[in-house]
Amino acid sequence: FFTSQAAAACEPSPFRTDEEYADVNWDKLGFDLMPTDYMYVMKCSQDEKFSYGELNHYGNIELSPSSGVLNYGQGLLEGLKAYRKVDGGLLLFRPEENARRLQLGAERMCMPSPSTEQFINAVKQTVAANKRWVPPPGKGSLYMRPLLLGTGAILGVAPAPNYTFLIYASPVANYFKEGMAPLSLFVEDDFHRATPGGTGGIKTIGNYAPVMKAQIRAKKNGFSDVLYLDSVNKKYIEEVSASNVFIVKGNMISTPATEGTILAGITRKSVIDIAHNYGYQVVERPIPVTELTDADEVFCTGTAVVVAPVGSITYHGKRFEYKTGLGAVSEKLYSTLTAIQMGLIEDKMGWTVEI
Ligand code: COI
Repeated sequence: FFTSQAAAACEPSPFRTDEEYADVNWDKLGFDLMPTDYMYVMKCSQDEKFSYGELNHYGNIELSPSSGVLNYGQGLLEGLKAYRKVDGGLLLFRPEENARRLQLGAERMCMPSPSTEQFINAVKQTVAANKRWVPPPGKGSLYMRPLLLGTGAILGVAPAPNYTFLIYASPVANYFKEGMAPLSLFVEDDFHRATPGGTGGIKTIGNYAPVMKAQIRAKKNGFSDVLYLDSVNKKYIEEVSASNVFIVKGNMISTPATEGTILAGITRKSVIDIAHNYGYQVVERPIPVTELTDADEVFCTGTAVVVAPVGSITYHGKRFEYKTGLGAVSEKLYSTLTAIQMGLIEDKMGWTVEI
């Protein structure tokens, strides 16, 4: 089913997995795919549970033209990162949260899902097998992309008969080409990311292609990305294309509540806890777009994005500017979060998992 180079098991491995680091210019990492040595693959049928998976050499997969994922978008993605600590150890950040979110998404998309234990075990195996691709401390992380796909063939609209759980990995650093520089966002009026009763709250693959048109248009006009409004009232801010959004006013930090159209980001959840610990009041609520006019700060959060400060937002031709950089709340949250993720400070929250 998969064109697995691992099938040629008796051939010597072309990969020198014993070396400490792959031959990569670690200072040039962004968020482009850099294929690594191994991917994890586990399969099951519709009436089974996932049971046994294996590491294959990274490579193309073979799919039926009538697979559920190709025809009807029956698929989910996840994203999580492994960091290399100064002492050489490897750290994952809250992988059980990714497992849980995948399970919730799978329920919505009528798919079987790996147990939390199977998920974490698969992630650990994928990191360990691709260890030489984990960037040196401070240079980035190994981004893991778990996929849950309806790979069985189906013609009518119905759940696929077979499923594949797969994890591939790529070393990454900053998501935006702006690097750590503040983002400029454009508030989108014509296109929406999610609708009530839809799938905006889960990480289904179909949530991402529909945002590309608005994103490309905004980038052509010099913006970093798009801020979406709710599709019912066209009045409340929702998300950026691949991240959650927060606004800061005085001691109050607000973010849209996760009520179906907002993705329950793991970085979002972690930043809320860190902000609470710093004594900020954090409120999850509907945020009218008009509040952007007098916010002190705006920032985005996500696994890929981490905590990205927003320098300006343009809405109906007016540009609003926000505080960023040293002394900003976003900077404090970024520093604390990444210090925990990289094992630089004590993880009092118990979020990190050693591999
Ligand atoms: C992540 O932050 O891991 C995501 O899944 C966003 C991605 C679509 C770039």
